[in-house]
Amino acid sequence: MSKQRHKTAVITGAAGEIPTAIAKLFHKRNIRLMLTDISNDVLPTLVNSLGGEPNCYGVRQDVTKMEDAERIAATCKDVFGQVDYIVTGAGLYQHLPLEEIAEADWRTSLAINLDGVFFTIQALRPLLSEDSSIVNIASLAGQRGSLNHTPYATAKGGVLTLTRSLAQELAPRTRVNAISPGLIDTRMMESLDAAKRQAMIGTTPLQRLGRPDEIASVVSFLCSDAASFMTGESLQVNGGLYVN
Ligand SMILES: NC(=O)c1ccc[n+]([C@@H]2O[C@H](COP(=O)([O-])OP(=O)(O)OC[C@H]3O[C@@H](n4cnc5c(N)ncnc54)[C@H](O)[C@@H]3O)[C@@H](O)[C@H]2O)c1
Repeated sequence: MSKQRHKTAVITGAAGEIPTAIAKLFHKRNIRLMLTDISNDVLPTLVNSLGGEPNCYGVRQDVTKMEDAERIAATCKDVFGQVDYIVTGAGLYQHLPLEEIAEADWRTSLAINLDGVFFTIQALRPLLSEDSSIVNIASLAGQRGSLNHTPYATAKGGVLTLTRSLAQELAPRTRVNAISPGLIDTRMMESLDAAKRQAMIGTTPLQRLGRPDEIASVVSFLCSDAASFMTGESLQVNGGLYVN
């Protein structure tokens, strides 16, 4: 009897709190992991805590560079052969009123939050398996805009459009969905003005911040047969903030 192949996943921005929660949940599902991040500070520890190679690899990737995406794809080809799931988690959230946005700020935000998603998916596309699934971590900001976060919100809006476009192009082999978290209790939220943060909690129907594991569980659902007829969708995971 042939041994069943383990599923494989690439998670970008894996040192981030939400992507780390996703990696931990995927690990519980026995999914083999390629964890990438621009920062090497916490990645080796995370990789070790998830058993290390050959089930969990940690590789440096600057998502703004196509050559890094191609290097990740070559490594995945060598060690996994194919890729079942891609989760694009790398992101940069900055408080930037319009008059303070320098050209470099604009380009950096678009490069990390939007180009990085495109480069990663394009490079990994030839490796995507039958019934594979991509989940892009967008944001509520991309759905409805965000005061003083124009570059970020614009990039995340682009991620939602990219998701719907690729859902058509990569079907039926690969499903492509996005999720739009609202306020999740991570260090990314530290740059948010305290008054705005409190006001947003106040207008969130569930009256609290979300937790990284509450994002991970929805990503895991989208990367499972339970979501086998879903593609081109973006799920609101923001305690109802979207409808308020
Ligand atoms: N925290 C929230 O409330 C929230 C809300 C909506 C959406 N999101 C999205 O969720 C994702 C994860 O966010 P998080 O809260 O875990 O943030 P985080 O800051 O903890 O993680 C982001 C990760 O991206 C990495 N990164 C930054 N630039 C990179 C680059 N050029 N190449 C590769 N990696 C790079 C960082 O090193 C970091 O590890 C992001 O895409 C973010 O926009 C977060």
